[in-house]
Amino acid sequence: MPRAKMPIYTNIEDLRRHYARRTPKMFYDYAESGSWTEQTFRENTSDFQHIHLKQRVAVDMAGRTTRSQMIGEDVAMPVALAPVGLTGMQSADGEIKAARAAEAFGVPYTLSTMSICSIEDVAEHTTKPFWFQVYTLKDDDFMRRLFERAKAANCSAIVVTVDLQVLGQRHKDIKNGLSAPPKLTARSIADMATKIPWGLEMLRTKRRSFGNIVGHAKGVSDPSSLSTWTAEAFDVSLDWKRIAQFKEWWGGKLIVKGIMAPEDARRAAEIGADAIIVSNHGGRQLDGAVSSIRMLPAIMDAVGDDVEVHLDSGIRSGQDVLKALALGAKGTYIGRAYTYGLGAAGEAGVTRALEIIHKELDVTMALCGETDVKNLGKHNLYVPRGFDDPTVKL
Ligand SMILES: Cc1cc2nc3c(=O)[nH]c(=O)nc-3n(C[C@H](O)[C@H](O)[C@H](O)COP(=O)(O)O)c2cc1C
Repeated sequence: MPRAKMPIYTNIEDLRRHYARRTPKMFYDYAESGSWTEQTFRENTSDFQHIHLKQRVAVDMAGRTTRSQMIGEDVAMPVALAPVGLTGMQSADGEIKAARAAEAFGVPYTLSTMSICSIEDVAEHTTKPFWFQVYTLKDDDFMRRLFERAKAANCSAIVVTVDLQVLGQRHKDIKNGLSAPPKLTARSIADMATKIPWGLEMLRTKRRSFGNIVGHAKGVSDPSSLSTWTAEAFDVSLDWKRIAQFKEWWGGKLIVKGIMAPEDARRAAEIGADAIIVSNHGGRQLDGAVSSIRMLPAIMDAVGDDVEVHLDSGIRSGQDVLKALALGAKGTYIGRAYTYGLGAAGEAGVTRALEIIHKELDVTMALCGETDVKNLGKHNLYVPRGFDDPTVKL
């Protein structure tokens, strides 16, 4: 069957708008929300706008490159796909589609523990190693088996998410009765009836529940017992000793995700993390936390070159990527930006999101008079006084 021509998407916001029309409300709301008042969710994006760029002219802009490295791996641009739970509900087999798009583009893909497609599913449909994100769970047995499965799937790094010992509340998920597969209620059926292409694709796949968990965790043989498992499984008493233990068990490259304080960044460097991600989980955990981009300078000061620093939360454009890199991050991640693309147009939509961000990064770099993404620095920016001090109102 010939594929419908893709609409013209010129920016990430175009993808978001189309995604909103195409995807059941329950899953759109799941992605497009933050915890409680959503203050941090909003500020993650708006704080980027306080930083201005320094335009340069009459600089030879030929032969530009966005190529770089993240944890020693070559990347076409320093923008990885962040772990996003339930990606396979935004579009059928969504994790496989996103991983394939990332591989073709030459950027890292991070698979979430809470994915619909399993580690094995994604490995089977890709040819290069991807990264695997783990939540810190109490069950040692399950954790060890997750590491073994990730190793068998040839994952080249583990991303340990440390900011979810307890779950931040997103009001809409409760009101919508979020679940995977979606529960059939009068409301959800009425909504899905308006999302026919999404539904038809979903009927064609068998992957509609949590592929890494169902059938693997004790006592979770069918999806209905999963919510109980999630509530009970997360390790409330997580500490640095435990994170160091994961490093030992895994024995490979390890990235600590969810760092928002200079002290915590230092601790991560001390346990020998290969990288940290300055992240507030896209504003989904501690509402009222400072935006990631505003925390970046203090964290850079605290760790210097002791550990590679990455950043996520709020990136919606190549300009945002450039600002994070110029403030010292070696790599960035996008969560919602590619999820919008996936929901709008599947694998091609993820590719489109990456193309948009790449082009914006490349052109912005050029107009700042830079030809190599690795040379970006504070000299490219006008950062308002007090930006690095969250007590100062911008
Ligand atoms: C819908 C959704 C689901 C997410 N699921 C996970 C997850 O399973 N594990 C995780 O470590 N982070 C998860 N995150 C956080 C992302 O990895 C990332 O930190 C965040 O999306 C970055 O912010 P951005 O969406 O503004 O780019 C999720 C984010 C979204 C939007």
